[in-house]
Amino acid sequence: MIGFHSENKIFHLSGKGYSYVFFINEWGYLQQLHYGGKVADDDLTYLKVFDRKSFSPNPCDISEDCSSPDLFAGEFGSFGQGDFRTASAVIRMPDGARMSRFKYKSHTIERGVRKLDGMPCVRSCGEEETLSVILKDAVSGVEIKLNYTVYEDSDALVRNVEYINPTENTVFLERAFSFCIDLQSDAYDVLRLPGHHNKERMVECAPVGHGILRISSERGTTSHQMNNFIALLDKDCTETSGNCYGFSLIYSGSFALLVEVGQTNTTRVQGGISDYGFQWKLGSGETFVAPQTVMVYSGSGPDGMSVAYADFYREHLISPRFVYKERPVVINNWEATYFDFDTEKLSGIIERASAFGADTFVLDDGWFGKRNDDKSSLGDWFVNEEKLKGGLDVIIDDCKKHGMKFGLWIEPEMISENSELYREHPDWAIAKDGVEPCRARHQYVLDYTRREVVDCIYGKIEKLLTGHDISYLKWDMNRHVTENYSAWLSPDRQGEFMHRYVLGVYALAERLTAAFPDVMIEGCSGGGGRFDAGMLYYFPQIWTSDDTDAKERAYIQYGTSMVYPLSAMSCHVSVCPNHQTGRTTPLLTRAAIASLGATGYELDTQKMTKEDCETAKRQIIAYREISDLILRGDVHRLLNPFKGNRFCMEAVSKDKKKVYVVGEEILGESNEKIQRVKLRGLDPDQKYLFRETGQILFGKTLMNAGLVLPNLPDFGSWTWHFDQV
Ligand code: GLA
Repeated sequence: MIGFHSENKIFHLSGKGYSYVFFINEWGYLQQLHYGGKVADDDLTYLKVFDRKSFSPNPCDISEDCSSPDLFAGEFGSFGQGDFRTASAVIRMPDGARMSRFKYKSHTIERGVRKLDGMPCVRSCGEEETLSVILKDAVSGVEIKLNYTVYEDSDALVRNVEYINPTENTVFLERAFSFCIDLQSDAYDVLRLPGHHNKERMVECAPVGHGILRISSERGTTSHQMNNFIALLDKDCTETSGNCYGFSLIYSGSFALLVEVGQTNTTRVQGGISDYGFQWKLGSGETFVAPQTVMVYSGSGPDGMSVAYADFYREHLISPRFVYKERPVVINNWEATYFDFDTEKLSGIIERASAFGADTFVLDDGWFGKRNDDKSSLGDWFVNEEKLKGGLDVIIDDCKKHGMKFGLWIEPEMISENSELYREHPDWAIAKDGVEPCRARHQYVLDYTRREVVDCIYGKIEKLLTGHDISYLKWDMNRHVTENYSAWLSPDRQGEFMHRYVLGVYALAERLTAAFPDVMIEGCSGGGGRFDAGMLYYFPQIWTSDDTDAKERAYIQYGTSMVYPLSAMSCHVSVCPNHQTGRTTPLLTRAAIASLGATGYELDTQKMTKEDCETAKRQIIAYREISDLILRGDVHRLLNPFKGNRFCMEAVSKDKKKVYVVGEEILGESNEKIQRVKLRGLDPDQKYLFRETGQILFGKTLMNAGLVLPNLPDFGSWTWHFDQV
């Protein structure tokens, strides 16, 4: 899996379907040779391009007749060393100088993967191997450890960087990225997932060009606006063919991912914690650990990449306690009531929902403090007994009476000005004296860089979880961080604020999940504003978007499936006209789209007709039958709604015996042109029963001849089931 060839100093990392090869060149710099499909253990140094000169300087020890680090494909970009592409790290020394000469010092190859203290990271399966290459900066004396973890059965390559200060001096890291690679071509398209609130993770794909493409968030969270994932696709890549490279950060705060085409047409991809305003004080003997990145190579386009990410995140990131556990079908009261509810109203919702088969009631915003709108009480995590007579236990008992479990909404990182917590600790809100802080949704963000703040919120949640029978928490985060400053950090540590905030969030998540291992926590941030691999480490599922419209959701879930498994997406059926778009779509379509994830309902069940309740009952029974495919299966995107009028996705069991297909006609057309859809991932030589028609067809027929799509009205949908016979 990881080989080092001492004669030519080549490292050859090989996973399931890829090789990653680099070597230590004659001047001690790491140089990339190949990343892509598998290669033999040949001496690939014949690929090194070293004879170019292009007005690029050499560090003094590289002779004038060879190339500059500016021109070759490297593994880590240095600053002030003749490589003018963006550096992967910038280190400021005590005299203010910033320049590095990072050269090979040593390496180790060990079994296992490094666990990152206080940060989400991939789990060990005991079989993986980690290469750690130490580079020493001849100027500052700082060392960096480049870690590469290879799993034999996966196309994922896990990387991060540790910044170690063995010197007597304090230095400042002004940028400390997690990974860097120079791909040796510029013929790529870059796929990214931008969006906004109610429209997260839209698929955008455009050619790279010279210069720098930076996708980032400076919001203290991953954000709705840009997911912390990027993929480079060969120009001729289709959904199912061609080389495709994914980069996904296991991180939940401000980030940057950069794609930069250099003068010799190499494409540098690198990133990690955003460097805007970042500065980390690294004292003598200290180490700074950058978050992990999961790189995936696929030779079969985004299709293969998504399957590899889903497998890897299920097997090695999401908590094994929940990852394959059947998820509760929830009924959530947010869109049913907003803040306007009492025990009786909730009881009515619960009763109806239990009758059609929901198994967990989730009480959303508005149950605590004096919260009757969004202007107060965040931080006061005790029940509003005026509103909920008898407290939470009355509702919990009601749920139990109906055979249901109980879940609770909470927004632990926030504080309202009008709250007991704020009156007691006004200095806990992020702010700087003399500067009026920005408000968003009338709320402030708590200063999670302070341990006592995290401890206090932990205490409040602990009290709720020990005092009541709660099986589920929905952890929300409804605004972004603006004033990145804490009066509790010294001036030379203010640049650490954004990352320390995220570490505070992780500390709380870590403590809660350790103390209450049976409580499943769903992540949320104004919908899908913090949908990332960092959160998935703690929360097996995340509310995908506040937009529950069955048309919009098709696009959102399509984009999200690029990186994240279906089971990570929490998807609800809501009422029509839809509260976000005003659109009316058939209940069948809403349920079909919501079935491609951890499904639930979010509407006033008391206002449902008898017929709709019967439909919901059938939907939940049908969902339970395919839920295993959602939890464990492979996902394939069959029709791209960003490129046509139809959406279609498929989930196939790993043993290829069961297949579930969901499609949606976006806008109906009269005499629409005939279109076929070809299934994927079936066993070509086995026969399948097409349940909806009774036909028996071979896998190869379904995959190569396909099926004719129905011609449906606006937002019409189809669900197909195939069982191997
Ligand atoms: C966010 C969530 C919603 C709901 C509200 C409550 O917007 O995404 O699902 O919980 O907060 O205020």
